[in-house]
Amino acid sequence: MKTIHYPKRRLLIKQLGLGVVASAVTPVTIAANDVRNSNERKKVLRIANITDVHIRPELNAPNRFKKCLEDIKKHEIDFFLNGGDTILAADYNDIKRNRVTDQWAIWQELRNGFSEYKMYSCLGNHDMWWAAPSKNDSMYGKDYVVKQLGIPKRYYSFDKVGWHFIVLDSNNENAGSLDYEQRIWLENDLDKLPAGTPILIMSHYPILGVSTIPYGGNHTDSKYITKIFYKHPDKKINCISGHMHLLDNAVYNNVNYFCNGSLSGFWWGEGDKESAGKGWYQETPPGYAIMDLFEDGTLQNNYYPHSY
Ligand SMILES: [Fe+2]
Repeated sequence: MKTIHYPKRRLLIKQLGLGVVASAVTPVTIAANDVRNSNERKKVLRIANITDVHIRPELNAPNRFKKCLEDIKKHEIDFFLNGGDTILAADYNDIKRNRVTDQWAIWQELRNGFSEYKMYSCLGNHDMWWAAPSKNDSMYGKDYVVKQLGIPKRYYSFDKVGWHFIVLDSNNENAGSLDYEQRIWLENDLDKLPAGTPILIMSHYPILGVSTIPYGGNHTDSKYITKIFYKHPDKKINCISGHMHLLDNAVYNNVNYFCNGSLSGFWWGEGDKESAGKGWYQETPPGYAIMDLFEDGTLQNNYYPHSY
């Protein structure tokens, strides 16, 4: 079940007489699998899900990111989930070493500004520098990004207050996809969990999406992954993703799939003729999701557009 209320954002900005509207903006609410009032359920975690930050030196992006962060902090979150594409891009053939180091240096400086929060990140397709002069170069490929993001491995899992979190690496052959090694690991990781365990799975590419129908970008191995999930009807599985810079929600075989927009919108730019608002990508404004996770395995996903 879901309810979506798109904010009349510009009108609100006008009414309030503000150039910048922070938490006053009505969120886009996507409530998964339970429409009971939040007060009837015990909330155990509040998470900020940011994705596609695409940090870059241009367009004042670092300062605009800092302003977003101040808004996010007001939600009193427990930790961050970062859905990948943390930097603008390292993956193009013409990217030089100093461009890669410049982008990650900005990210590290920003990250130091909120180091009191834990952040669990996944790899985005634009994060890796494949054009390094050699595969032995310390900055080549995924290992360097794993270090920059401070994560244990390109895929991993962890537990918090009864919820199990799985972070996947979608960046494999025929992306988005899981490689063989990761498939085996995922199957084992799910098999080990007790019945009833609530699960939140984060990948960069959507495992299943709605916006991927017109725009592409879906996991190419969705059939395999959804069949794995189907073997676990006793568990409550939810998936979040980025990559699309679009907001959508799909439900299939009782699994919820949320594609949570992007923090950078139109890569911090003003947009194009298809942008429904300044800085938007298509009909999705830049923003972040605040996710409330409940003890009974339900969750509520609210997307907060930002206007920076
Ligand atoms: Fe992206």
